[in-house]
Amino acid sequence: MGGGTSDQLASIDVGPCMKPPPSEIEYRELRRADLPSYEKVLYQGLGTLEHAIGLERSVVTMIQSLRGRGFWTLFVLLRWLGVPIIRIFVAVERGQVLGTASLLWLRKTGVVLGVATDAAARGRGIATHLLAGMPALAQRKGRAWLALDVAAENATAIRVYQRLGYTESRRYAWYVGPPPELALASEETPTELTGPKLRTAAIWVNDQQDAEIRPLFPVTEKSFSHLEVIFQVPRTQVKSWELSASGEPTGVVRAYYSPLTETGFVLPAAWSPTLSAGSLQSLVTPAIQWIRSLGAARLVLVLPEPSPSWEPVLANFGLTKSEVSILMVRSATA
Ligand SMILES: CC(C)(COP(=O)(O)OP(=O)(O)OC[C@H]1O[C@@H](n2cnc3c(N)ncnc32)[C@H](O)[C@@H]1OP(=O)(O)O)[C@@H](O)C(=O)NCCC(=O)NCCS
Repeated sequence: MGGGTSDQLASIDVGPCMKPPPSEIEYRELRRADLPSYEKVLYQGLGTLEHAIGLERSVVTMIQSLRGRGFWTLFVLLRWLGVPIIRIFVAVERGQVLGTASLLWLRKTGVVLGVATDAAARGRGIATHLLAGMPALAQRKGRAWLALDVAAENATAIRVYQRLGYTESRRYAWYVGPPPELALASEETPTELTGPKLRTAAIWVNDQQDAEIRPLFPVTEKSFSHLEVIFQVPRTQVKSWELSASGEPTGVVRAYYSPLTETGFVLPAAWSPTLSAGSLQSLVTPAIQWIRSLGAARLVLVLPEPSPSWEPVLANFGLTKSEVSILMVRSATA
């Protein structure tokens, strides 16, 4: 795969526990003619989290872009050159897409997303088969890891991923609500990060990461979290702030605003465990003020779970926990 002309998802070992899938199903990369049935299946893959954070609008836009001849030509050209940012795989039977799964390349890790099977075709091993070839693909692309995010309540998908060797790495709580109006406590004003300050802050955030996560998603000034694959839809604006004491960082927050979905995401990237609820509130306040000033309809605050020190802050903001997601990972080589 990659750099060649074939778009077949070949040489997949589905493991000894699975019956081989029916042979009339073709597993390959997305073609232009697949778009109508691909779209139908992809929409079925949108869960409560995607709806809560307005992601369905990004999916609609992505499909519209793929339908445009110019965008599609670019997409195919990049695929042919072996440098696509995203690989979209489909399972096709009699010209109809029955299932799909995509793979997006981050620096060290392949992120699996857009996994869905048509409701009428579930339980036939389609998702399992689409995903089973991904470790070999990731290895060929020099990525040692695969990762995906799944809603904690999605027991079916979690079972499929576990059988394929993915294990839970960490959980995130997603708080959603209208952006509150906030005043900043003057004694603790975060500094907006740009240029060299942003680079230094990224190094600090990287040092604060769990040792287990750091090799998969190294923090750089360009990327603070793998969750950015969800926040960073086209035209997303990004800003970062740092709270410090005696010249040392005590907290870093990053905010993303997507005009497409009218949603602002606030991601406290790292904070000192000793920070008070008041300081945590100060840390995220400029991010929320910025998102509000842009006219966002919705604010989404994402925190690793559990984060008990944030509870009073969340109560002040009137945000409610909408969903818990699980980051699942597996080695691409094992
Ligand atoms: C999660 C989802 C993608 C799974 O797709 P699928 O194609 O049905 O998955 P599979 O068929 O590979 O596996 C599902 C079940 O069928 C069973 N199965 C797999 N191959 C089979 C076969 N050849 N014969 C009989 N049963 C089979 C599996 O054992 C599994 O059963 P269990 O987990 O209930 O024990 C699908 O349910 C879906 O689209 N859900 C909505 C969207 C979604 O949740 N996406 C994931 C977002 S992270």
